[in-house]
Amino acid sequence: METQTQKPQTNNRHLVLYPYPLQGLINPMLQLANILHSKGFSITIIHTHFNSPTKSKHPHITFLPISDGLSKTEASTEDIISLVTLLNTNCVAPFRDCLAGLLADGPIACLITDALFHFSQSVADGFGLPRIVLRTSSIFSFMVFATLPAIHEKYFSKQDFQLESPVPEAPPLQVKDLPTITTKDSNDLYKFITNMVTQTKASSGLIWYTFSELEESALSQSRKLFPIPNFPIGPFHKSFPASSSSLLIQDKSSISWLDTQKPKSVLYVSFGSIAEMGVKEFNEMAWGLANSMQPFLWVVRPGLVRGSEWLEALPSGYAEKIGDRGCIVKWAPQQEVLAHFAVGGFWTHNGWNSTLESICEGVPMICSPCFGDQLVNAKYVSDVWGIGLRFEKGVERGEMERRIRRVMVEREGEEMRERILCLKEKVDVCLKEGGSSYQHLEELSSYILSF
Ligand code: UDX
Repeated sequence: METQTQKPQTNNRHLVLYPYPLQGLINPMLQLANILHSKGFSITIIHTHFNSPTKSKHPHITFLPISDGLSKTEASTEDIISLVTLLNTNCVAPFRDCLAGLLADGPIACLITDALFHFSQSVADGFGLPRIVLRTSSIFSFMVFATLPAIHEKYFSKQDFQLESPVPEAPPLQVKDLPTITTKDSNDLYKFITNMVTQTKASSGLIWYTFSELEESALSQSRKLFPIPNFPIGPFHKSFPASSSSLLIQDKSSISWLDTQKPKSVLYVSFGSIAEMGVKEFNEMAWGLANSMQPFLWVVRPGLVRGSEWLEALPSGYAEKIGDRGCIVKWAPQQEVLAHFAVGGFWTHNGWNSTLESICEGVPMICSPCFGDQLVNAKYVSDVWGIGLRFEKGVERGEMERRIRRVMVEREGEEMRERILCLKEKVDVCLKEGGSSYQHLEELSSYILSF
């Protein structure tokens, strides 16, 4: 793939991209925008006012804000299904008007919109425009989501379901790995998934934020379920870092602190941009980290601990207890952190960006999935690829301490590192000329030029 420093050749074709406004979905779309710009396309990004991206970091892209109609309460809801349902309704007219304005100024080759914005398919159809979908999750987790409306009730409506039971419809998952999302009405969830799957089938192509060597069998499943061109062209962040689309300020002091640590000695801990936890769980984590005696860099995002502004829930005397062995920040330059020589493990919630970023740097994981696709990703990390250790919900400080040591200092962790380094090598190859993602990106580019 080309890098940001190369001056792109223009091809006079205009693409309009529309990201879903959450950090974990904005990052890949903005990276894709930059990659396609480097292929010569001119790019406009239509975005909601809610979580709008920082334009100044992308001077070569045109940004057009549209109204999302969200009240303050709606924008701060924890119910991500209510939010996505509202946005799919509220954005229809503003999105259509914005697109009409752009078309009045000149032709558009195609639209690239996040899969979550399923409404955009009928808008695209109305203008006779091809729409390509970007799905920013792993392929296997999307395949599980697609079957969820059919199987969820079967497993979760029973009072006595067994968490360890296998799910024959989605091997190798067990019931405990099925994506769970808390929402006021599960019918809204099923309706949303059904719309997302139907409108993805109706689209002209599907871009995956992954690479084919990692998910070969899921990719062939996807090609059957979505018989449209599939383009696994990830990971993107090796070409364009997520720092350029970070909604929060990254605390660079974490890097100077890492500079003072021994190679592979630090456990990096971060649960992404949405996950939340209670005070009890937070305290168990704090003691598990302290008692493991491993140096750690911990991202405690404001809002991570329910009911707390930031660190008030830490036990008293905690800072004195850990001294220089721990560094706590609100938000870190994660990709730089994972690539740092001092980082030897990543305690993660297994959001797909974090999982892929860890693979790209060969850092073994401790998995604490919180909801949705994270449960499925964690299953693959721990049981399929053998590159991480999963924590069950409710695990206590003593067990955490032992498991942290298993990953950071014992042979088991070393073996995980060897396996993840093999995957890292595959990533490096897939992005180079002739590699799978490189080839698929070339195909995507030619496909768009054929419209
Ligand atoms: C959301 C969902 O929660 C997740 O399940 C889904 O796979 C993607 O969308 P999020 O929870 O934010 O994402 O996690 P993740 O996908 O890991 O994305 C977080 C992004 O923020 C990563 O690109 C990471 O590099 C960045 N980050 C995180 C920082 O830049 N600094 C930090 O301190 C933490």
